Amino acid sequence: DVQNCFDMVLFGGTGDLVKRKLLPALYNAFVDENINSEARFFCVGRSAMTDQEYSDMAYKFATEAKNTISAESWREFSKHIRYLQMDANNSETFNKLPEVLDKTRTNIFYLSTSPELFKPICSNIAKVGMNHSNSRIVLEKPLGHDLKSSNDINDYVAQYFKEDQIYRIDHYLGKESVQNLMAIRFGNTLFEALWRRQWVSSVQITIAEDLGVGSRGDFYEQTGALRDMLQNHLLQLLCIVAMEPPSSLEADVIRDEKLKVLRSLKPLTEDDVVKNVIKGQYKSGAINGSPVKGYLEEEKVSPNSITETFVAVKAEIQNWRWAEVPFYLRTGKRMQEKVAEIVIQFKDIPVKIFPTAGGNFANRLIIRLQPDETVKLYFLAKQPGDTNRLQPVYLDLNFNEMFQARRTDGYERLLLDVIRGKLTLFVRRDEQIAAWKWVEPILDTWRELKIPPKQYTAGSWGPASSSALLARDGLYWHEEIA
Ligand code: BG6
Repeated sequence: DVQNCFDMVLFGGTGDLVKRKLLPALYNAFVDENINSEARFFCVGRSAMTDQEYSDMAYKFATEAKNTISAESWREFSKHIRYLQMDANNSETFNKLPEVLDKTRTNIFYLSTSPELFKPICSNIAKVGMNHSNSRIVLEKPLGHDLKSSNDINDYVAQYFKEDQIYRIDHYLGKESVQNLMAIRFGNTLFEALWRRQWVSSVQITIAEDLGVGSRGDFYEQTGALRDMLQNHLLQLLCIVAMEPPSSLEADVIRDEKLKVLRSLKPLTEDDVVKNVIKGQYKSGAINGSPVKGYLEEEKVSPNSITETFVAVKAEIQNWRWAEVPFYLRTGKRMQEKVAEIVIQFKDIPVKIFPTAGGNFANRLIIRLQPDETVKLYFLAKQPGDTNRLQPVYLDLNFNEMFQARRTDGYERLLLDVIRGKLTLFVRRDEQIAAWKWVEPILDTWRELKIPPKQYTAGSWGPASSSALLARDGLYWHEEIA
């Protein structure tokens, strides 16, 4: 891998993502000697700055954002960083690119900007001839705000770059824990045999955050939880949980299988949306005992906003493996804790001969992706002593304890894959389109029926109707019985 010599241009170089995540990830890869020692990083911004000023600013930001960075190693790393003053909308400024980049290397263009700039950046790169066969383009989400705009951007980018030069990022796919999910499924016979409608009665996938929208109110007003999390991260997790065993780890083999899942999702009618999709918005409350504002009081948020900060959906996959098994997906800001987990509920035993206490815990596999990475298998065991009563117990596997090695951040893995030209963990265009197609009826129905969000208290698990969505099917969200 260290053989791959490259020049990487990071558009949006003064933005949050580059400073908070991308440069620290590249720094870690550099310190671990996972990238070529001649590699260069060109960070693009509109204001005037020297290389040194940029590097100092990036260092300060990255450390304040709690990245562990040694000043000395950063000094070494920053010898590879250059700052380029450019303006996406001013094609003249792109004349710098052919001067500074070495075309004999892989040229990577990472677009960490707002999506309105994707088109001008692409065409300006092309104007100066830098969309050559040795170049790659990385697109951050959100890629559009609906099916049409996403198609527009993809069509536009496709004029200049071939599909195998396009790396659409979903940073969840870079998470160690998400890849481990595939390993658990396809590396062990144990689970695969049971991983189907005959044995699974329901699946829950949760990505909850305790943070609010912070300073991103303006972005979030245009986006909302559905576009920010459901269309991408939650559906990608669903694909990995539900896909058929792929025949290899080849990029297109995996992506074909994920696509089949997305295409098998039962389309939602307007009635389904009204009944099976919960839209929520947080009001003031408390997180870890400290009071926090409601969404409507956040900076840069309209006081009448009906943007959702929470969404829960009951989905169905119409294929032979999953027909009639409900998949409950949910995500929200300002929830009780930051947690991402998948709960596989296996069917009940056919005949009960033992009295039980808390039987709801039985036959349940919980794969927790973050904050800690664990797998817990709940089952029933006999209470000790003179009784026949059963009680729930669990096997608990903690990967952080099991493996001492540094768990890399999602972005680090993805950046290394872009450098190596490995597309497996990136979203192919048809996957992205299929995901938009499935969520679009939700957006349409919310807009047409002007559905207001249900309020939930910050620090709770979402609106009461989210619990009711499962209660209707005689079920509970995992934490409600835990
Ligand atoms: C991003 C969303 O894609 O994912 C953010 O835009 C969200 O709103 C973030 O906070 C969550 O990612 P993670 O890795 O912290 O779970």
